[in-house]
Amino acid sequence: MSVIVLTGGPGSPGVTTTSLGLTLCWPGDVMLSDCDRDPAQAIPAGYLRGLDLGGRGLAVLARLHREARGIGPELIRQTIALTREETTNRRFLPGFAQPGAVRLFDHIWPELAEAFTDLGTQGIDVIVDAGRLGHDGLPTALLEVADAIGFVLQSNLKSLAASRLYLPLLVDQVHELPADRPLGLVLVGPGRPYSTHEITAQFGVDCWTRIPWDPRPAGVLSHGLTPPRGFNNSPLLGSYRVAALHLTQRLERARALRHELLQGGAP
Ligand SMILES: Nc1ncnc2c1ncn2[C@@H]1O[C@H](COP(=O)(O)OP(=O)(O)OP(=O)(O)O)[C@@H](O)[C@H]1O
Ligand SMILES: [Mg+2]
Repeated sequence: MSVIVLTGGPGSPGVTTTSLGLTLCWPGDVMLSDCDRDPAQAIPAGYLRGLDLGGRGLAVLARLHREARGIGPELIRQTIALTREETTNRRFLPGFAQPGAVRLFDHIWPELAEAFTDLGTQGIDVIVDAGRLGHDGLPTALLEVADAIGFVLQSNLKSLAASRLYLPLLVDQVHELPADRPLGLVLVGPGRPYSTHEITAQFGVDCWTRIPWDPRPAGVLSHGLTPPRGFNNSPLLGSYRVAALHLTQRLERARALRHELLQGGAP
């Protein structure tokens, strides 16, 4: 199974909304992890409309790490269900409850990242909302376990200008990883005004996914607004379904290729 890390630059391009949308439309069991280092409680206060998290989340995992009790076995217990479906399990791991807690997490990222990959053995994919890139990029441990890294941006000049400052940091960080980690753009609102082609040409990074600009359904995910009529059939939800499917197929192909190479390399 896979770990997908989503991030972006400043200006709120839609990282959280897209991460949540993909999670809700993912074609299998999945956990969305809020790893935004600028904690905002965006999902509990937005989509979950102030749901009591019962103290669950990264703070508990940090305490377990300090007590050397291991994060892995406790990870799923620190999540809550995002939907009530019977067929697919969609969980949410709440993020930092206090801004100061982020600093204390520096040496915990590797154990959390390892716990994410271990979830794969239970057939659960992980989507990480890594929030906006800092001046130092993202925690390397998260990138090291990522099967796909998506940089979310919009097609307007403000978002492109911010991306021009921050995307190179991520590209450099990914190049320095010991193993190849695929990086692609997730374009929110293509053609408003710049086209996908213009944007990929400017940045030299492939565009994996195009999410249409669809503010009312987006408000359901980002702000917990009442779903408008036709929400489930909206262009936004449709695009998340297609994107989730394409992404899982891309990851499956990459896995098959790795397997083939390993087999071919065996004596
Ligand atoms: N496809 C979309 N169509 C229209 N509006 C969108 C879309 N995706 C996100 N938005 C809107 O953009 C705003 C910012 O979204 P979101 O909070 O997901 O951004 P973010 O990148 O996570 O921001 P931050 O860096 O502050 O965490 C929200 O109001 C959300 O409703
Ligand atoms: Mg966010």
